[in-house]
Amino acid sequence: MKIFSGIRPSGELHIGNYLGAISNWLELQKKNECIFSVVDYHAITTPYEKDKFHQRNLELVAWLIACGINPEKTRLFRQSQVPEHTELAWILSTVLPVSELFRMIQYKEKSDYISKENITAGLLNYPILMASDILIYNTDTVPVGEDQVQHVELARIIARKFNHRYGKIFVEPKAILTKTKRVMSLKDPTKKMSKTDTGGIALGDSSEIITQKIMGAVTATGEAGKISPAVKNLLGLVEAFGKPEKISEFIQAIENKTIQYVELKRYLAEKIIEKLTPIQKKYREIMADPDKIEKMLSNNARALHKEARIKIEQAKKEMGF
Ligand code: AMP
Ligand code: TRP
Repeated sequence: MKIFSGIRPSGELHIGNYLGAISNWLELQKKNECIFSVVDYHAITTPYEKDKFHQRNLELVAWLIACGINPEKTRLFRQSQVPEHTELAWILSTVLPVSELFRMIQYKEKSDYISKENITAGLLNYPILMASDILIYNTDTVPVGEDQVQHVELARIIARKFNHRYGKIFVEPKAILTKTKRVMSLKDPTKKMSKTDTGGIALGDSSEIITQKIMGAVTATGEAGKISPAVKNLLGLVEAFGKPEKISEFIQAIENKTIQYVELKRYLAEKIIEKLTPIQKKYREIMADPDKIEKMLSNNARALHKEARIKIEQAKKEMGF
């Protein structure tokens, strides 16, 4: 299978990213050709800190490698270093009715919380660039979290429309989800954990901070003996980070109304710390040599640029250029 996925360099990576996206990438890279991109052109669709931007890009790559992405096997690159992505996005924008973009849930959500003058055409067009990222490499599978499935479906629609109008050029991609589809905020179980959420655990959080955040997580607001959404979220984390038998133990205790949430939280904090400590160590080692990361990114971008160029030229030929 040919796999492509992208991640925005906006804010620190959190355990939602890890469970919803990166863990899946780690599995997939074992048996497939994988390309993963730091989608910096996507990151600028919402306000961002330009002074920290370059550093954020590097840090993200370092985290991905620290988590286990193998840079010898899997190609990691910066989206803006392969200009064909934006070139193809323009072409694709001419086959997609704009009404499809206004349908996108993420557009609606994001434009709800940012001020009107910051809702740019870029924010609306975001999924076209994402479609371009995917289609340009003949990707057949796109591992993402649940929030991105609609965008991958839009990429399918775009591929179909283009192929129908001009000739079969693009592969219609499919999304695949991880087991943990959506990690919710520890402060508010109705919101997903995100890079801007204070109820999120960053991959770089110290043991003290992790413990503090988990111990402070909201638990039950529901009925005693029932599993509230907040607890369901914590149990999902226990399942992801802890031992499988622990889940049924905790569920049993909830049903018997003997649960001590402090115990559940203590266990969970310990397991998360156990998982993140070696990743953090590796991250620091990688970040000690930023030039090495830069070089790897440039080499990969150069090779991908050649592949992407061929695809664009094929598309343009079909279109009569
Ligand atoms: P983002 O942080 O929005 O750039 O997302 C990067 C990747 O992580 C995408 O594949 C998302 O679907 C996934 N992701 C982001 N937040 C979560 C979350 N709270 N739970 C599960 N997956 C997530
Ligand atoms: N839109 C994705 C997100 O916000 C990131 C992304 C950009 C992406 N291009 C992609 C994901 C291509 C998968 C494939 O998380």
